[in-house]
Amino acid sequence: EKQVTWGGRFSGGPSERMQAFSESVSFDAELAPFDITGSRAQAAMLESIGILTADEKEQIDAGLVEIFNEIQAGQFTWDPALEDVHMNIEQALSARVPAAAKLHTARSRNDQVATDVRLYLRWAADELDRSLKGVLKSLVDLAEKHVDLLVPGYTHLQRGQPVSVAHHLLAYAEMFGRDRERFALFRERINVCPLGSGALAGTTLPIDREFVARCLGFVDENGEPRVSANSLDAVSDRDAPLEFCFNAALSGLHLSRFAEDFILWNSSEFGFVALPDAYTTGSSLMPQKKNPDALELIRGKAARLQGNLVTLQSMVKNLPLTYNRDLQEDKPPLFDSFRTLRDCLDVLSDLVPGIQFRKDRCQAAVSDPLLLATDLADYLVEQGVPFRQAHHQVGALVALSEKLDTPINELPEEEARKAADGLQDDWREVFSLERGMARRTGPGMPGPEPVRKAIGEWKTKLAD
Ligand code: ARG
Repeated sequence: EKQVTWGGRFSGGPSERMQAFSESVSFDAELAPFDITGSRAQAAMLESIGILTADEKEQIDAGLVEIFNEIQAGQFTWDPALEDVHMNIEQALSARVPAAAKLHTARSRNDQVATDVRLYLRWAADELDRSLKGVLKSLVDLAEKHVDLLVPGYTHLQRGQPVSVAHHLLAYAEMFGRDRERFALFRERINVCPLGSGALAGTTLPIDREFVARCLGFVDENGEPRVSANSLDAVSDRDAPLEFCFNAALSGLHLSRFAEDFILWNSSEFGFVALPDAYTTGSSLMPQKKNPDALELIRGKAARLQGNLVTLQSMVKNLPLTYNRDLQEDKPPLFDSFRTLRDCLDVLSDLVPGIQFRKDRCQAAVSDPLLLATDLADYLVEQGVPFRQAHHQVGALVALSEKLDTPINELPEEEARKAADGLQDDWREVFSLERGMARRTGPGMPGPEPVRKAIGEWKTKLAD
């Protein structure tokens, strides 16, 4: 008959309803590869301090590898009665290897789960880095094709000043570039080994925590092992999943803003882009429709990423030290954030190269001469007019253009000069888009020169 792990002090097992309620293996089986890696390091350490013989360690190691392979092949049977991934694996090992009974020496599921999660998060951060890089490559490649294609830049969703499509795309590259940095710093910060903290107060046995940390790659840049500094904190802290979910939520927010921009640009009203068929869908009723569903889903899924962060924050905020079973609930939102973010990023990397810009529509929108009203104020400044006065004079020209129902650059000379006395003979040249863009040469500006430079820098950054 199967024995509950803690069976010694119990007269019966949990009720069926309790079993179903408390099991976590249906979702924490995701941790299996990391749990096995952690247990192999634990076994090696136990051998090094003489608790396992070399032979026992070998058997445990071989058993764990066997179990790993079965799990990978989908041949492993998970038993919810054994609660979680940790006990399922331990039980399977016990059935094969008698020495398995020694594996849990000086270890609790509390430090075990904390360790597994950190191993998982390191892996997840690496995966996301790859996906973020994919998005960045797509954005930079598309930007390179559209350095000279201009659209209005907006504030308040009102036309502001002209920018190149490339510059707009590279704004998102900046965001996703920061996401990469954030995940990289996160990975470094969490790379500390909790194993050896026990249930909450370490152990009386002479374990070698540095040995385990080294085995598992919890080391600093000099290869020195990093072990958690406080056993109470180590088993109850959830900063790592929280920070991960925050990073994911923020990256999701960037994705969502991108989605929103391109949903707008794809609308008939803007019409700046056509989205690829492969990432749009039709309507079951309206035959003419081509809907931007992929981008809408990205925007919608970004909400889940925010929700997962709030779930974790709410779960942890009132917990007394140390471990409480509530903490088991950290995994569904954590795993969901990882998968959701990765899927959104991978869809976007695929979608971006298929975006077609409708040059006629972009040109029509950007030919509004008022987009260069600010450039005219700059022109007046160059004639020696203080900026506040220049702003006022151009404002008067805008009002005049409205009053006469005439584009600002076609106003009658005499009346224009009266409204803005700083104007010289060449003032209408300001309304050349080419002039306006070519003059924007400073770092971070949308002129073709700095944008080409930024593209070059991105390509170098993404080359490895
Ligand atoms: N499945 C549990 C979790 O993920 C493992 C820890 C159980 N510890 C305990 N004291 N019941 O949190």
